[in-house]
This record gives sequence, structure tokens and C-alpha cells, in this order.
Amino acid sequence: MRIAAVRTHLLEHRLEVPFESASMRFDRRAHVLVEVECDDGTVGWGECLGPARPNAAVVQAYAGWLVGQNPLETERLWAVLYNALRDQGQRGLAVTALSGIDIALWDVKGKVLGQPVAVLLGGRWRDRVRAYATGSFKRDGVDRVEDNAGEMAERRAQGFHACKIKIGFDVAEDLRVIRAVREAIGPGMRLMIDANHGYSVTEAIRLGQAAAECGIDWFEEPVVPEQLSAYRAVRAGQPIPVAGGETWHSRWGMWPAIEQRAVDILQPDLCGAGGFSEVQKIATLASLHGVRVVPHVWGTGVQIAAALQFMAAMVPDPVRMNPVEPILEFDRTHNPFRQAVLTTPIEAQQGVVAIPDGPGLGIEVNRDALTEFRMRDA
Ligand code: NI
Ligand code: CA
Repeated sequence: MRIAAVRTHLLEHRLEVPFESASMRFDRRAHVLVEVECDDGTVGWGECLGPARPNAAVVQAYAGWLVGQNPLETERLWAVLYNALRDQGQRGLAVTALSGIDIALWDVKGKVLGQPVAVLLGGRWRDRVRAYATGSFKRDGVDRVEDNAGEMAERRAQGFHACKIKIGFDVAEDLRVIRAVREAIGPGMRLMIDANHGYSVTEAIRLGQAAAECGIDWFEEPVVPEQLSAYRAVRAGQPIPVAGGETWHSRWGMWPAIEQRAVDILQPDLCGAGGFSEVQKIATLASLHGVRVVPHVWGTGVQIAAALQFMAAMVPDPVRMNPVEPILEFDRTHNPFRQAVLTTPIEAQQGVVAIPDGPGLGIEVNRDALTEFRMRDA
């Protein structure tokens, strides 16, 4: 069995209402899927986190090393591709592109062996996970405080037991948002905050000290990802557990943050940090230092499916009668192709998502949607 072709599918939807995180403005949703086709007709799907066109270009650059190879040799192919760009790569697009390919190869492996990826990773510990609703970006022309509080009240009404809101814009305004959201969702719903590395260390400490009384489960990306000493200062200077890692790539990129305990919660993205092959290693490294792993998710149903397979296989840590279960990041912002790319959408019922148990990622891709949402000029 050999790899016959590696294809990329660029998808796009122009947003009617643009929105912002602390570090990025979104006027469109754009993601790239990776399709690996084998000579026996088996097809595997993956996705890359980050800018669609640059990711697709790097995937295409890797294709020459893949065609003609045995797709089941995931570990060897990961090393071949990593080494191909190693001297100028090591992180960023070199690894996010590799992630999409690795996920597609595991999807192929699962289909060939007739097993879900979770079983190939070691076993299905769970068949469902709770999801937390991510939203509350800053939208043009509306009052953030009211807008975010109303949105999260709606998530609560939909049955979500946890949500994450965007901060990092301005400490005083962010605190008003956090208090209004807590008021709107009541005391029982879990609440996380994500600054998208918008704060300085002193701002993050001030925010964390004041927000702690609102019952915050974690404080995500308080400061820029390159500054691990700043992360440690935030951890030491305020009481909310610190989360981060969606921009750190590969075991080498994650290890300093784990070893130095820069975060309490590590958030590798399956489609960014190196795919199943690499995130398995990252989770093992995190377990050496008691760092909790909660995958980051920001993409289409393909990425959600990859995160679910990984989460199904996560070994409870620490082991106890009622262990802390993994929780799925569930993006609730506008993206009409997020679920349309799947023939069977992965949706939350009362805040709980069932983990597909079919072979590979357990999904089928709807090719009509790839055409409908194809990026212009792509
Ligand atoms: Ni729209
Ligand atoms: Ca984030």
C-alpha cells in the first residue's frame, strides 16, 4: 500500500459581522483540510491550524517526500518530513503543515485496520466528553459587556456546563465583562478566560487577582508565548491556574514550558503541535510534571474529530475513582462550513459530545461542502 496523492482543500467564508480577539481581527473564516489518497483508494483526512494558504503551500512542499511511501509508517514519515525542513523549520508552519498530514495518515491507518484512532493510540477510555463553549469575541458596533453576557446566557440555556470568554483588551473593561458574564450564567457554570496574549505581566497579574473571586477555572495565554519567565511571573502573582500552549509546536517546543512549570494546563492543538504522533509524546512529557493537558481546538469538524479521538485515549491522571475528565473546546462563533464538511455533524447535546467510534477519525467528509466553501482563487 502506497501514498498516491496529497491534496489540500482551502475553505473560506466571509463574515457578515467581523470579530476580534485581543491579538487578531477576523473578517473571514479560512481553514485548510489535507487529503491523503492511497493507491488502494483509501483516503485519510487531516487539517492544519493557522493561516490556510501558507499551510497548504508547506503541505504541498512535503508531498514529494510522501508519494510512494507506505502510509502506515506514521512515525517514520513524521521524522522524514520533520528532517526535510528541520534546519529552517522546527516549529510554526513546518509543524502545523506536518500536523495535518500526520492526522490524515492516522485516519488512513484506522480505516485500513478497521479501528478508531483512539484504539490505535491505546484505547477508548470514554465514549463522550463534555464540551465548553468558546465565544464572546469583540464584535463591531456592540457593547462588549452586554453582548458577551447575553451570548453566554444563551450557551447556558443550550445546556453547556462550561464556557470561555475573550479578554486581553483592557483590564478595567475586561473585568466588567467577566463580572457580567458570571452574573448572567450563575454560579454553577464553569468559566474560563482567554487573553490571547494581549496583556503585559503586570496587567495579567492585576486582572487575575481581581477576577479570581468570579470563580475562574483557568487564565489562558495571559502573555506572549515566547516569554516563559513572564508566564511564571503570572502564575506566581495571581491565584487562577494558567493555561497555554496553542502556539507551541512539537515536543521540543512544549518541553521548556512543562519542565519550568510555566503553565498549569497545557493546550497542544492536534492540528498544530504535530498531529497524533507528536501530541502523544507531549502528553507523556506533561505527565512527568503533573501538567494537565486540554487540547486546543479551532477549526472544522475534521479538527474536532481529531481532538475527540485523542481525548478518548487520554489516560486518567491522576487515577482515582472519579478522575478529572478531559473537556472539549467547542467553538461557537459563526462558521457555516465547520460542520458542513462532515456528512454527519459532530454536535453537542446538553453540552456533551459523543466521540465517533468508526474507523480512523470516525467521520466522512462531505465533498459538496468543499466545493461550496472553496476559497476564491484557490
Ligand atoms: Ni455567514
Ligand atoms: Ca486560546
